[in-house]
Amino acid sequence: MGRYDTSIARFEEAKKVLAGGVSSNFRYHTMPVPLAIERGEGAYLWDADGNRYIDFVLGNGPAFLGHSPEPVLKAVRESLDQGQAFTTVHKAEIDLAHRLTELIPCAERVRFDVSGTQVDQIAMRLARAHTGRTKVVKFEGHYHGWADNIFASVAPALNEAGPHDAPQVLNQSTGQPENIRDNLVVQPYNNLAVLTDTVNSQAEEIAAIVLEPVACNSGVIAPEPGFLESMRKLCDANGIVLIFDEVITGFRVALGGAQARYGVTPDVAVFAKAVAAGFPLAAIAGKADIMEGVMAGVVHGGTYNGITSSVAACRASVEMLAADNGAIYDKVEKDGQALISGLQEIATRRGLPLHTQGLGQIFSTTFTENPPLLNYRDYKATDDPMRLAFIQGLQNRGIRVTARGTWFMPAVLTDQDITDVLEAADASASDI
Ligand SMILES: Cc1ncc(COP(=O)(O)O)c(C=O)c1O
Repeated sequence: MGRYDTSIARFEEAKKVLAGGVSSNFRYHTMPVPLAIERGEGAYLWDADGNRYIDFVLGNGPAFLGHSPEPVLKAVRESLDQGQAFTTVHKAEIDLAHRLTELIPCAERVRFDVSGTQVDQIAMRLARAHTGRTKVVKFEGHYHGWADNIFASVAPALNEAGPHDAPQVLNQSTGQPENIRDNLVVQPYNNLAVLTDTVNSQAEEIAAIVLEPVACNSGVIAPEPGFLESMRKLCDANGIVLIFDEVITGFRVALGGAQARYGVTPDVAVFAKAVAAGFPLAAIAGKADIMEGVMAGVVHGGTYNGITSSVAACRASVEMLAADNGAIYDKVEKDGQALISGLQEIATRRGLPLHTQGLGQIFSTTFTENPPLLNYRDYKATDDPMRLAFIQGLQNRGIRVTARGTWFMPAVLTDQDITDVLEAADASASDI
């Protein structure tokens, strides 16, 4: 029996009925196939071949509290008896909105939805309505969902991407209209001089600047000191709406998200993933005058927005995260830093260009002779085959990490897990 035989057979079966064998393109992996996972509990997953994994993928972020956290499941079970989708407002939804306005610095008003893609859409629509302008500035390598108007320059080929200081707007999917570039401006991340020039020359047309405050989809790149603060000032001076896409960073890098961690408050922010422990809930939060656009012509719909089970899951997750003044964040920071320094020690001892960067709650491993990574192009220049070999080696030893090298830290690791991960990493590094 091979280690992945059942996963391989399942994938063959899936491809006959599920287009592509998976329900999202981002789940298609060749390590050797998407794993047939059967069960998740705490920091662990088990596949259909009986292999156990310490999971650093966590459903691409949501399972920050580990898989199947009992207080969340209990809250969801209790909510199920009340009914699910009322398409009106319910008490738990109002209470949750109150709670989020206490926790998220920019949140004067909140609205619920079901996916990150969709809250990014309403954020941009509100910004356009608020300013009467149409262009949106985004950064190369940053991801804001797969909708036509923003799914551009997320992972462009460098030979097509144009110069560093004037990146092309490149569609990421066939079937997208060509004209999305008319309303988008793509910028290099962490380059204030270029951004300042762009804003100064096009201010009258720019409705919003949207970014991942920590660039988690391209190497887990933290903002350079002063970058977010200066962007805030640029937006204020030019009447531009600043949107933080906190779909990954929200409730992960701090209870109040990256805006709380870095002390820079956007006008609007969007949340999903870790906010509801794996249940489909997303939220947009922002300044009242922008958010109240929904009463002045801006339409935001969604049959499943605010359904009882997701609201219950979100409330229970948020209370777990907020317990003891957010003590969980210190634990994850400590665990993450132990892994980061352990991985760097392995790299130094073995003389490998293995580079670990990021925060305790989310970090990345890449192979590069030129650390640190400051923007998408630095990430893109890292050694893909070496990274993939390392990650395959980890997976073969029961450690599951995303193919792009991002480690989503679970909040429930034990000291033994950390020892096991570093042993597996040392063995995988020695194979390389
Ligand atoms: C920063 C960011 N924004 C938006 C999205 C889209 O969220 P969803 O997959 O829930 O549509 C993602 C998904 O990974 C993301 O990482």
